[in-house]
Amino acid sequence: MLNLLPQPSRVETGSGAFPLTDGTRIRAEAPLDAAAERLQDALRAGLGLTLAPETDSAEQGASAVEFTVDTRLADEAYVLTVDEDGIRVAAAGVAGAHHAVQTLLQLLPARVHRRATTGDAAPVAVPAVRVEDAPQYRWRGLMLDVSRHFAPTAEVLRVIDQLAMHRLNVLHLHLTDDQGWRAEIRRYPRLTEIGAQRPSSQLGAGPGATQDGRPHGGFYTQDDLREIVGYAAARGITVVPEIELPGHVQAAIAAYPELGLVAEPLEPWTNWGINPHALNVEESTIAFFCNVLDEVIDIFPSAVIGIGGDECRKDEWRADARTQELMRERGLADEDELQSWFIARIDEHVRSRGRRLYGWDEILEGGRVVGATVASWRGTAGAVIAARRGSDVVMCPEDTVYLDYRQSDSPDEPIPTGLLTTVAHVRAFDPIPAELEPEHHARILGGQGNLWTEHVDSGRRRDYQLFPRLCALAEALWSGQDPDAVASFPDRLEGHLARLDAAGVEYRPASGPLPWQQVPGVPGKSYDRAERAAQIARLTANLT
Ligand code: ACM
Repeated sequence: MLNLLPQPSRVETGSGAFPLTDGTRIRAEAPLDAAAERLQDALRAGLGLTLAPETDSAEQGASAVEFTVDTRLADEAYVLTVDEDGIRVAAAGVAGAHHAVQTLLQLLPARVHRRATTGDAAPVAVPAVRVEDAPQYRWRGLMLDVSRHFAPTAEVLRVIDQLAMHRLNVLHLHLTDDQGWRAEIRRYPRLTEIGAQRPSSQLGAGPGATQDGRPHGGFYTQDDLREIVGYAAARGITVVPEIELPGHVQAAIAAYPELGLVAEPLEPWTNWGINPHALNVEESTIAFFCNVLDEVIDIFPSAVIGIGGDECRKDEWRADARTQELMRERGLADEDELQSWFIARIDEHVRSRGRRLYGWDEILEGGRVVGATVASWRGTAGAVIAARRGSDVVMCPEDTVYLDYRQSDSPDEPIPTGLLTTVAHVRAFDPIPAELEPEHHARILGGQGNLWTEHVDSGRRRDYQLFPRLCALAEALWSGQDPDAVASFPDRLEGHLARLDAAGVEYRPASGPLPWQQVPGVPGKSYDRAERAAQIARLTANLT
């Protein structure tokens, strides 16, 4: 029995196998050669097998492993055929070929997922099969918060490998927030000189939380960011950057106080939660962020550029006479309109650079921002409104795909927060809101899991939060709710764990002692589903 995850659309098993050995010939048409290289890397690192690339095929006859462009196939689709004569991959472009490589690796022993071979280069038999496959959704992503806890470049590359392994194709990097600014901006060096370091971090959540007293910091140079973008692109993954505004900006205000509305100096925040500070709405502040975004746009080729937009507290705007005066001058009726005005100005700039905005569903408030891609995190209310208006939507409802949330009700879960979110909850993720009319379904591009990192301060803890739930997310977005795939998922996931083991992923075990246990005395903060649903309904009531 083949064990593939995500489950491909169509799998036909054949008879016999193809022996892959050291020196098996491989040939790939451009641009699929990038995917063929990834296959060669994996075979070399995991199995110790070195294939023999062929450039001039005419004299040599057919290669045993062939990648061929087939423009009749859809973007990201592929056909993988294995028989006794060889292995053939057909795809319209490199994305499909990447996915084919991942499926092919799953036909091999799990140890192909190791990063370094122990030198045993024994041939492997690839079972005969024909796989015809294409994803159900075109946005299959993970949001990684690198502000609350910085993840060094090598760690981000490791996450990219994990995404590629699961045929996910978007990494949304949350680069800035109250607690840290993580992207070098050459025009404004204090953003990272001051904004990337904090003296301490909150330990635990809710009442009883304390401070750890340990400095935390780090940022990506522009070279680091280019390395991340290039590494991801070579694996068919788009990196979408996010620069938060007009709230979640304490680190920026700490670096450049003229961006804010408070007289006292600030430092990057050492607590978690939603803080009161917002950007002021002067033209100079708009210009500052347009300059920041210009540098970001130069690094990230992504068609959409994240600007956050969530959870902006408006009390400082209400209390500030100058802000109120600016609102009157601009003919803005209330602070929701002001937020919308601010984001619309940024939108105008991003469009002038040939890109589109990507923001959390609060960007719908005030009604001025149209045509942006909306990340619907507060349930489905924003998604439905945006899709009906003709905007693209990425679903990431916090009651289903927030991967920082606790995975069980066990008191041993490390710093348990949010809603109980099990592997089964994530596998049941259906990005299409039930209440959305079929004519608008095409606006739902897909979905992403969100990993906020307040309580995720290491790569090991990140693995624990992501896995195996990321496997369920990948399958929900690739295979959808196909009943056969849903029914076979638990068994396939069980088999897939050997691959995660080989790749060195420290997933949360389904049973037995947890590797990361609640630290005695460090409180968590869990929500009740019904109470949280009522709160979200109140919060989204002003969306129109
Ligand atoms: C969010 O969770 N504040 C987008």
